[in-house]
Amino acid sequence: MRDVFGFENQSKLYNTFRPEYPKPLVDYVILSVTSTHPPGLCVDACKGALDSCVVDVACGTGLFTRQIAPYFDKVVGLDQSAAQLQLAIECPDLYENISYLNYDAYDLTGALDKLEIKSSDVTLVTIAQGFHWLDFDKFVSMLTENLPSNTIFAPIGYSRPHVMNKEFLLDESLKECLCNPDIVLSEYDEKFTTYEKMINSLFEFLLPYFDFNRRVLEKFYQDLPFEDYFESREFKMFPEILETDWYRFQQFIFSISAYRICLEKNEDEIAAGTFDDPLVKLLRFVLETEGKLDLTNSSDFTSAEDAEVLKTIKFDILWNFFVHILSN
Ligand SMILES: C[S@@+](CC[C@H](N)C(=O)[O-])C[C@H]1O[C@@H](n2cnc3c(N)ncnc32)[C@H](O)[C@@H]1O
Repeated sequence: MRDVFGFENQSKLYNTFRPEYPKPLVDYVILSVTSTHPPGLCVDACKGALDSCVVDVACGTGLFTRQIAPYFDKVVGLDQSAAQLQLAIECPDLYENISYLNYDAYDLTGALDKLEIKSSDVTLVTIAQGFHWLDFDKFVSMLTENLPSNTIFAPIGYSRPHVMNKEFLLDESLKECLCNPDIVLSEYDEKFTTYEKMINSLFEFLLPYFDFNRRVLEKFYQDLPFEDYFESREFKMFPEILETDWYRFQQFIFSISAYRICLEKNEDEIAAGTFDDPLVKLLRFVLETEGKLDLTNSSDFTSAEDAEVLKTIKFDILWNFFVHILSN
């Protein structure tokens, strides 16, 4: 099977330019497995104290795996991409309690057998920004049939980034808009509204190149029939607004498989100069609007000099992180 995360330099870009999961989200997931769950329990008290195993499915370069590793006795990271795992293994802050395996998500029990871990020791299965890649029924039925009924399943994700402005949050009435997947977020400022609309168009353009139904992710998995398999379901959003720049945004798009597949499929049109790359279009618009287009020297803004120009144009970005905590 083709490794769609194995494009040149992709895993490195992935590891550097994908967002880190917010600490409150990580804490929330960790506290979900503490049996007593007393209100106000300090997550730091759990560090190294959870005498159980967590399996991080579709772990990629280990972004989420490393964030939960300090709390558990054993951590297993599974991914079908050898390129992504290679980066996870090379990561300098590799925790000794993590075992990374190049395994298919559906063969989770095979991976546990290989590591001689009893399924009854697994208290938590996480999957960060990866659940939409899987067949819902096939994966969830595998989990519920093979793991203890009290094992927590925590699918985590984030929708596409939105152009934002921290000042937006000063208006209390607008705060709840953050977690509404259908809202246009930047209508307070023409420039940012246009940037936001262009990012939306970029993702719409890429829709056919995604190997999964992107709308499921944009709706924070809320439409998935988890209740068919789990009795208890909690859902929580962790919106985070961060300062970024257009170079970081460009590199983030380069880490997306659908964008790389799109470039590959349109190779001939690109060579013929007939492909209208939506990322290049967006960056050209931004550079023109900010009066910096004259400072660039490559047609697709990928030269080292252009990177420096893009880095100077800062903006705020909203990441809508979410998690479902599911159990029986
Ligand atoms: C968007 S990445 C998420 C990586 C990581 N969890 C993170 O949060 O950054 C999705 C990952 O799912 C993996 N993946 C997709 N289908 C898979 C499958 N059937 N079994 C194992 N891994 C899979 C891909 O190789 C990729 O590394």
